[in-house]
Amino acid sequence: MAGQPGTRNLPNASALRYLWQERRTSTLGVDQSGVWRFRDLLPIVAEERVITLREGNTPLYEMPRTAAALGLNWLLAKHQGMNPTGSFKDTGMTAALSVAVASGFEWVACASTGNTSAAMAAYAARAGVRSLVLIPEGKIAWGKLSQAMDYGSTTLQLRTDFDGCVRVLGEVVKRAPVYLLNSVNPYRLEGQKTPAFEMMEQCDWQAPQHVIVPGGNLANCSALGKGFAEMMHLGLVHQAPKISVIQAEGANPLYRSLQANGGAALEPVVAKTRASAIQIGNPASWKKAVRTLAWTGGWCEQVSEREIALAKAEIGAEGIGCEPASAVTLAGLKKLAADGRVGREETVVLLLTGHTLKDSDYTIKYHLGELLSEAEMESAGSAELAEHARLRRAPMVLDADADAVLRVLDAQPSALGPA
Ligand SMILES: Cc1ncc(COP(=O)(O)O)c(C=O)c1O
Repeated sequence: MAGQPGTRNLPNASALRYLWQERRTSTLGVDQSGVWRFRDLLPIVAEERVITLREGNTPLYEMPRTAAALGLNWLLAKHQGMNPTGSFKDTGMTAALSVAVASGFEWVACASTGNTSAAMAAYAARAGVRSLVLIPEGKIAWGKLSQAMDYGSTTLQLRTDFDGCVRVLGEVVKRAPVYLLNSVNPYRLEGQKTPAFEMMEQCDWQAPQHVIVPGGNLANCSALGKGFAEMMHLGLVHQAPKISVIQAEGANPLYRSLQANGGAALEPVVAKTRASAIQIGNPASWKKAVRTLAWTGGWCEQVSEREIALAKAEIGAEGIGCEPASAVTLAGLKKLAADGRVGREETVVLLLTGHTLKDSDYTIKYHLGELLSEAEMESAGSAELAEHARLRRAPMVLDADADAVLRVLDAQPSALGPA
């Protein structure tokens, strides 16, 4: 490669791999962080100005039962919900918050469906700067709201939706010296590209064929795409995976746009889904998402509330768990596998964006049979109903009596299901 135009002075790929691995054994915060470990490709702030909670370093799990059920040889889940505040937002927040603080801002702010606010509040608290959260009233999960309060943010619930919060915040930052930390912030994308590097380390630098992400404001897919593009440029990998985006049917502006006009224009929708993290009707980064799908060869799919609930229970039954928005990845994969867009031999990585405890209300309602309405369940086929019945685990109330407990054990099915 040396001497070819555009490749002179590039870092050596093997040296980078070695350095990144080596930093894992260091006791320095910047080395222990799964974002700043890759700081050679993140030249945005001086090392000593980094605000880190040791984010990243998230597990790549195998999902053997789900793979078998789908007729795939191999299925993996990169669990970004295992970050310090329980979502993938931490990888971008450490980067952008570090820049905000290094630039001298005393206030940072975001509009959020919950996870961005939790991440921003935590990193702002670590840095000792003040943070302002705008969230749509009654439309985010309690776990996320509690985090913003716990980390000391000024939390304002506006009587509007997420898109309304974005609009108001746009005005606020024009009128006050507040640093905007929404996902259009370019430094957030820099941090959010690093899970692509970590995924490749975990795959021994053999790129999977397919990475599937949930789509809300649509920043994450392009951040990952950027990570893969940079690795290709440096010769760290030779082929990027297809990156596919899955949206909830009730919050599907990208899906609609691709169907209607190939992604040339996007018509905002009034978003409604129980997967509140992706309840976004006017995504800021849709053009970047269209470009990412195009250059990686990925697809955009939409999935129903029933499909999301079932997929979430299946991910839970693997002992992994995730929040509802993350489960759209598996629901979407089922569609891609069913019509041959994903083949048996392909390695697929689902990007699970949030921890299961983020929205325990959803999980409890599902298992109690109170999540989905009768109208929604009406068109479910018998196989799907059986699958819901197999996965549901409503808690039982019993007298304090060993015999009663043993009777329940006897009544349980002999195996957990497809192994
Ligand atoms: C858990 C979770 N998954 C997915 C998304 C969507 O990511 P993006 O807005 O980058 O498309 C979000 C956004 O808030 C989220 O919190």
